[in-house]
Amino acid sequence: MKISFVGLGVMGYPMAGHCQQRNYPTTVYNRTIEKSKNWAKQYSGDYKETIAETVREADVVMFCVGNDDDIRSVCYGDDGIIGNMKAGGILVDHTTASADIARELAARCAERKVGFLDAPVSGGQSGAENGQLTVMVGGEQPVFDLALPVLNCFAKAVTLMGDHGAGQTTKMVNQICIAGLIQGLAEALNFSERSGLDTEKVLEVISKGASQSWQMENRGKTMVEGKYDYGFAVEWMRKDLGLCLTEGNRIGARLPVTALVDQFYQQIMLRGGARWDTSSLMQLLQQDNAASK
Ligand SMILES: NC(=O)c1ccc[n+]([C@@H]2O[C@H](COP(=O)([O-])OP(=O)(O)OC[C@H]3O[C@@H](n4cnc5c(N)ncnc54)[C@H](OP(=O)(O)O)[C@@H]3O)[C@@H](O)[C@H]2O)c1
Repeated sequence: MKISFVGLGVMGYPMAGHCQQRNYPTTVYNRTIEKSKNWAKQYSGDYKETIAETVREADVVMFCVGNDDDIRSVCYGDDGIIGNMKAGGILVDHTTASADIARELAARCAERKVGFLDAPVSGGQSGAENGQLTVMVGGEQPVFDLALPVLNCFAKAVTLMGDHGAGQTTKMVNQICIAGLIQGLAEALNFSERSGLDTEKVLEVISKGASQSWQMENRGKTMVEGKYDYGFAVEWMRKDLGLCLTEGNRIGARLPVTALVDQFYQQIMLRGGARWDTSSLMQLLQQDNAASK
């Protein structure tokens, strides 16, 4: 199977690398060509300077860009992915985007006899680099079965969740869980600090109990230290929470805590934290402490 990958960002670059390393000949495209050149050198793969050349021969085309608008700009038009793929090919979208655009892409692909899967990922930069992502997929079973061996190159779990859009909706569930969880963790750790407890010791103890979480294990210590200069960016999280709130309105599911946490993230962005890690919710509480001293 010949693979093409469009969008070599924090996530796409290593994901495409895993495909090439697992012996799927992979051709990449990135808007900023320097990244394509570095990728081709690092993984001994191929790159092209246009999307059309990149996808023309491919059996499976994957892409991972920023948001719905970016998806439209790489997929549609004369030089877009869909118009240049061969019939019988499969297009896989790894961007975290709306369920609506997943259904829109599926319809456009069907017109060209191309299979489509929406397949957002969870696991962050380290999950992408270590090939340990979780992939939530929407689409049809036969298309999923054909693409699965390729998705397994960079994943520890790949699950078909339902029809087109179900992958994106599952990712929304994931983000709703994370938003409330990080705010709870931030409040707890701030409470611990203000109580005069040894918070490192507190984390050691409670992470063996019922409040344990990935965020606690991986971010607890850095939150106490006030380190946020890495990880999953606040501006991406706000994009994701916006998708959740829109979908919640559409289906009549109330999301009061998610809406509140989104406002806290807005405050962080106003403080210049658009590229800080999502655990920076703690920073708002730390600032309050500094002000009250
Ligand atoms: N980072 C994470 O931890 C993480 C975890 C899970 C899911 N995600 C999701 O995965 C997606 C990508 O995240 P990322 O962190 O990899 O983002 P990123 O590092 O900002 O990379 C975005 C990629 O998309 C390309 N791109 C964006 N707009 C484009 C356009 N209009 N035309 C052509 N190329 C375009 C960029 O090209 P240039 O290099 O030219 O800018 C870059 O290759 C997002 O939807 C994000 O929410 C991210």
